[in-house]
Amino acid sequence: MAADAAGIAEAARILRRGGLVALPTETVYGLAADAASDAAVVRIYAAKARPSFNPLIAHVTSLEAALRQGIFSAGALRLAEAFWPGPLTLVVPLAPGATVCAAARAGQQTIALRVPAHPVALAVISAAGRPLAAPSANRSGRVSPVTAAHVARDFAGEIDLILEGGRCPVGLESTVVECLEAHPRMLRPGGIARTDIEAVLGHALGEPAGAGSVRSPGMSRSHYAPRATLRLEAATRGDGEAGLDFGGIFGKGKNVLDLSPRRDLVEAAANFFCFLRELDAREPACIAVAPVPHEGLGEAINDRLFRAAAPQS
Ligand code: TXA
Ligand code: MG
Repeated sequence: MAADAAGIAEAARILRRGGLVALPTETVYGLAADAASDAAVVRIYAAKARPSFNPLIAHVTSLEAALRQGIFSAGALRLAEAFWPGPLTLVVPLAPGATVCAAARAGQQTIALRVPAHPVALAVISAAGRPLAAPSANRSGRVSPVTAAHVARDFAGEIDLILEGGRCPVGLESTVVECLEAHPRMLRPGGIARTDIEAVLGHALGEPAGAGSVRSPGMSRSHYAPRATLRLEAATRGDGEAGLDFGGIFGKGKNVLDLSPRRDLVEAAANFFCFLRELDAREPACIAVAPVPHEGLGEAINDRLFRAAAPQS
């Protein structure tokens, strides 16, 4: 359904009844449900085939609404004020009286909160009148969706509504920062660059404790998996390989898509999941991927590439 006034009203009606709605955010499409309802949230895990130990982000319309769900340290407050609405998720201790249910939090006493910067997402949360739990609207472990058509490919006929809201402008999921101790840690690189967060904090972000643990379970290695094999850091493209290029190093070719001919990492992020899906749909055995610089949004692009290339379990 178009994400106009009628579509938004219908989405809110479905969500209040415990249904599932896919909706656009500025990062990727989310698969939303009433975050206060265990029964509704359980349907998200089932539709995605997502392990029930992997907690969801609760989406709210304002910092005030977030403060009813979580306890914000001084650092968390500074980050929320600097980057919300926007592609930043903060993991904070659960507030007494929080309404977000245990299933959405995977039973943890912490909560992931985000104020999205997309008019449709904000309108649906307002109309539903409650926080919405929403992971990316893809099957667990598969490539994230940045158009309504991508969502339909994974979920057509299985969820109650898909709102058509165009292509997501950021194109990568939010950066997840855990603010449980004095020193915030980055759990997942994403749509806001590490250096921008560190500039606001005035110090470096910590790394996730106990690398390889399930502290942020979405960080498991094989994730965002395309069907094709990926060959990363490729200087040239081999015969028969498709090419995911950056900065025009592969030259023109039928199965070459360039994330950003002018080497702009914001443009590359916006194209990333779209181009990866498009090349994968052409069913090459292998996709050669040009080197992408590790600075700025390149950290998140390289993180997704590394996970997409990992052997599937
Ligand atoms: O941009 C985004 O973040 C999108 C849009 C829809 O908002 N959502 C998204 O959700 O990417 P999802 O479920 O695919 O990723 C959420 C990440 C996962 O890595 C999850 O493990 C982590 O956040 N997370 C959620 N709650 C957490 C918690 N209490 N502690 C640690 N990590 C948490
Ligand atoms: Mg995801």
